[in-house]
Amino acid sequence: MLRPLAVVLSLAASASAIWPAPISMTQGNSTLWLTQTVEITYNGDFMPYTYGYTPTGPDWTSKDIVQGGVSRALGQIFGDYFVPWMLHTREEQATFEPKVMSNKTWIESLEITQTGEDSEDTWKAAAGEVDESYSLSLSKDGKAKIGAASSIGVLHALQTFTQLFYRHSGGPFWYTPMAPIDIEDSPTFAHRGLLMDVSRHYFPMEDIYRTLDALSWNKMNRLHIHATDSQSWPLEIPSLPEVSAKGAYHPSLVYTPTDLKNIQEYGAMRAVQVIIEIDMPGHIGVLGESHPELVVAYDERPYYWWCAQPPCGALRLNNSDVDEFLGTLFEDLLPRVSPYSSYFHTGGDELNANDSMLDPGVQSNDTEVLKPLLQNFIDLNHGRVKDAGLTPIVWEEMAIDWDIDMDPETTVVQSWLGTVSNLTEKGFKVIDTNYNFWYLDCGRGQWLTFDNDANATFYPFNDWCGPTKPWQLIYSHDPTEGLPEEQAKLVIGGEVAAWSETIDPANMDTLVWPRAGAAAEVLWSGRYDADGEPRSQLDAAPRLQEMRARMVTRGVKASPITQQWCVQMGGDPLACSYDLNPYGH
Ligand SMILES: *[C@@H]1O[C@H](CO)[C@@H](O)[C@H](O)[C@H]1NC(C)=O
Ligand SMILES: *[C@@H]1O[C@H](CO)[C@@H](O)[C@H](O)[C@H]1NC(C)=O
Ligand SMILES: *[C@@H]1O[C@H](CO)[C@@H](O)[C@H](O)[C@H]1NC(C)=O
Ligand SMILES: *[C@@H]1O[C@H](CO)[C@@H](O)[C@H](O)[C@H]1NC(C)=O
Ligand SMILES: *[C@@H]1O[C@H](CO)[C@@H](O)[C@H](O)[C@H]1NC(C)=O
Ligand SMILES: *[C@@H]1O[C@H](CO)[C@@H](O)[C@H](O)[C@H]1NC(C)=O
Ligand SMILES: *[C@@H]1O[C@H](CO)[C@@H](O)[C@H](O)[C@H]1NC(C)=O
Repeated sequence: MLRPLAVVLSLAASASAIWPAPISMTQGNSTLWLTQTVEITYNGDFMPYTYGYTPTGPDWTSKDIVQGGVSRALGQIFGDYFVPWMLHTREEQATFEPKVMSNKTWIESLEITQTGEDSEDTWKAAAGEVDESYSLSLSKDGKAKIGAASSIGVLHALQTFTQLFYRHSGGPFWYTPMAPIDIEDSPTFAHRGLLMDVSRHYFPMEDIYRTLDALSWNKMNRLHIHATDSQSWPLEIPSLPEVSAKGAYHPSLVYTPTDLKNIQEYGAMRAVQVIIEIDMPGHIGVLGESHPELVVAYDERPYYWWCAQPPCGALRLNNSDVDEFLGTLFEDLLPRVSPYSSYFHTGGDELNANDSMLDPGVQSNDTEVLKPLLQNFIDLNHGRVKDAGLTPIVWEEMAIDWDIDMDPETTVVQSWLGTVSNLTEKGFKVIDTNYNFWYLDCGRGQWLTFDNDANATFYPFNDWCGPTKPWQLIYSHDPTEGLPEEQAKLVIGGEVAAWSETIDPANMDTLVWPRAGAAAEVLWSGRYDADGEPRSQLDAAPRLQEMRARMVTRGVKASPITQQWCVQMGGDPLACSYDLNPYGH
């Protein structure tokens, strides 16, 4: 007995494969088989499993949404060819699968019951306004049941359901070795998102669709699209066609209104709300291509006196043409956002005071001068966002650095610099995106180039936020760490961020997945387990490896988190753990 503990742990860990971990789950060790003719009902009515069923929105019914979910879930189970050989040792290869010739107990029925009514806001609900909980059971004799208050809960349940099943290597058979199963589940945080930056690099629709799928598998429910920045403006605005015509990297690299609608609906049908950000008043240099009269400091040099990275550029403050332009922009865009989201993100990060020195109407970088102008700017534009029925989200600098007065009841603040407690002290609802933990782009080196004079200063060319955030570090982060209970309640959740200076479609999946999933488990299951203990990497790793393997099978190029040997030893979590007390057990 070299590792006696391993035996005990392996029973617990080899079983439950669900990612993110359900709040409560019991399981057995009986095998049940699933066929494509399983009888599915929704609130008592027969629901056909139609491969690829996709309702057209936005006037879906709950039944449409559930049927789409059923179609995707069964499509995944039957279409994935997920034979989990990689989760078993060499020795287990001949024995880990149930005998395909055995007498099979089939799953006869999947009975879905939605106990509550969806409202028209269910699929664009603000944090806390939709009940995402669900229950899932599978009896030993083959009766599967899903219960949920909302169709969103049903979608989450169906994703859990897919994770129970494996394909058999011996033929078209699908089984779960875990029956009977009983799961009660609900999220810890209401806002569980990924920030995708489509300005620094453009991402074709298929990359966004694939990302929305992967988010839904991980029970993440927000895709924050950082739609514009100083580098490019890919978002087509029909009433201002010149902005993307001149601001996109190439005339073809745009999102048309139809593209946007398709993205929003694709997300909504998967319980992922798409949130659009137009970053302002900084980070908007590219507008200088079409409207030089509205911006200052566009591509000004040396860039670091005017902004964080080239090309610089900020909106003029105290300028009625800017106000009018944004009025037109919002009038066009916000009515296309509000059917699918409760939020609109107005940016607000990294505004460099120097920019306004170049503004003929201001000519100052004095905070005392600029702050009231910024206050007017926020009041006017957040007012417009609210008038469109949306809740504004802003980056933390507006609240912290500039101390802009915003109504905490009707404004959400996103923190990246680690000031969550400062924001909750002011009473704001907060989305945590702490760069020390949840920036997925960090730690891969500089995208700037340096001449030989600068060589010594910047050698060895690390980026500003390295080192890389490994999944273990991402998993360690609790957005409410150290907050008194009243303030912890204000943290509506978090987002991992994939800023795209050096991310494009060729490497996005490998950088986002499965690390975004590590945050997904913190946000869904909580950093602490039912006993109040921090969740253990030893419990998480085998499940994350399995989730990663499923994602690869489904066409997402998620990176491995460890070597193959450790994955195959997944049933023994100590095999690839670091044992500080080799004589202690
Ligand atoms: C399955 O579970 C039952 C009940 O917990 C247990 O008695 C039995 O030994 C288990 N069988 C296997 C093969 O693990
Ligand atoms: C399968 O079940 C049938 C009916 O219960 C029984 O006659 C048969 O022997 C079983 N076969 C195997 C391989 O267990
Ligand atoms: C503003 O510009 C001056 C040079 O004119 C520079 O020294 C200073 O660092 C700049 N401030 C910021 C915040 O970049
Ligand atoms: C803002 O604009 C108004 C009207 O043009 C002007 O009177 C005022 O001085 C400006 N404020 C600043 C701080 O530049
Ligand atoms: C404002 O400009 C002056 C003169 O260039 C500079 O010394 C100072 O650092 C600037 N202040 C800020 C906040 O950038
Ligand atoms: C945030 O609050 C902490 C603790 O009270 C304080 O030390 C820190 O200076 C504050 N940070 C900011 C940016 O206000
Ligand atoms: C760059 O700087 C490093 C570290 O100081 C030094 O070892 C290297 O020789 C330098 N290279 C050039 C081309 O100057």
